[in-house]
Amino acid sequence: MFKPNPSSPSDQIDGARTAKRESTTRNPAKLTTVGVAGGGQLAQMMASAARHLDIRTVVLDPDPDCAAAQNADELIVGDFGSADDLLGLAKRCDVVTFEIELVDAQALALLEAGGYCVAPSAKVLTTIQDKLLQKYLLADLKIATAEFCEYPGQTRLEMPYVWKARRGGYDGRGVAVIRDQDDIESAPDIPALLEDLVDIDKELAILVARDYCGNIVCYPLTEINMDSHAHVLDMVVAPADVSHDIVAECENIAQMIVNQLDYVGILAVEFFLDRNGKIIVNELSPRPHNSGHYTIEACATSQFEQHLRAITGLPLGPVGMKCAAATFNLLGEFHSVDVPRDPELHAATSGVFVHDYGKTPVRRGRKMGHVTVIDEDRTQVILRANAIKAKVSIKAAT
Ligand SMILES: Nc1ncnc2c1ncn2[C@@H]1O[C@H](COP(=O)(O)OP(=O)(O)OP(=O)(O)O)[C@@H](O)[C@H]1O
Ligand SMILES: [Mg+2]
Repeated sequence: MFKPNPSSPSDQIDGARTAKRESTTRNPAKLTTVGVAGGGQLAQMMASAARHLDIRTVVLDPDPDCAAAQNADELIVGDFGSADDLLGLAKRCDVVTFEIELVDAQALALLEAGGYCVAPSAKVLTTIQDKLLQKYLLADLKIATAEFCEYPGQTRLEMPYVWKARRGGYDGRGVAVIRDQDDIESAPDIPALLEDLVDIDKELAILVARDYCGNIVCYPLTEINMDSHAHVLDMVVAPADVSHDIVAECENIAQMIVNQLDYVGILAVEFFLDRNGKIIVNELSPRPHNSGHYTIEACATSQFEQHLRAITGLPLGPVGMKCAAATFNLLGEFHSVDVPRDPELHAATSGVFVHDYGKTPVRRGRKMGHVTVIDEDRTQVILRANAIKAKVSIKAAT
């Protein structure tokens, strides 16, 4: 699965702090065509960023009208779960990456064996796309996570606990709080794990990027407000309102993970800060992340540009924040009247940036876009973002 680390956790953390390390991976000359498996909004924003870097993008997605089709240089209509289609993508580009964890990791491993460049690696995707293997990785690295066990198979945790699908979950689909026997009996019959229910004070996330030479940059720690019923992201605020010690701890953990995985690209690490002040890793995402959309307007280098820089052999960009930021998703609504797709706020209000992914059809709960609000003052940015959130929506035409 992954290499056990012979050194102590503190050695690992000190190692992670080193700005430049000997590389164990290739350090290619600039790669100019990037293949992206998956054509959703993350690929769309990656393709926009690529244009500024003079990088071509080729996207593989089954939907000819996928969000990224509007921005990519080339679209291959095909299946990112198919080895043949992934090979077709690899043949048309210098490096293959992905925007979704559902990509066939075994097929990516075959590409690597055939000499194609894949970043992040197939090994990384294999570990992270399975939440149970992710937990074993974190346990091996002695990084604190919620107590867990495989399900079905082991039931040593006491209720209430959290049931999680091992694969394929996102936006809270594949997560359920189990409070009694009825809850566990109604959970889907698929490979899963159980986790202790954490008494969460704050949810936090950090984006970390690592290149082929082992250079690392960490974005500011962000605070994620989740909708506690739907388990879906409600609002992201950057920077997080936590102590320097917490920031340093999260940075160290993120750096240790990317070093241990010999990771290339951008990785998001989601944390829980529990009510005892303890930092616990929730999960990893081996791609640009919803919590990092604010970087487009608020940071010197967006997460999408940074990912491309890392995987194409360009120098990593600066990550400093120009201002505070808050981002919320525009989710499609149901039973609604036809309203313009472009909210009137667009460009009319300074510091408000509306991103419409242009997806059709509008479906209830579907991520149709996001809004980022920036301001010099963190309190102000939250107030403004909440006020705007109450006003805008993307509704389905009747
Ligand atoms: N062990 C836990 N204890 C308490 N709450 C939890 C736990 N695990 C998950 N949650 C809640 O459920 C949310 C979704 O869980 P998780 O991040 O594992 O799933 P996901 O569907 O992959 O998420 P994403 O929205 O990042 O795609 C978390 O952000 C958190 O609010
Ligand atoms: Mg999550």
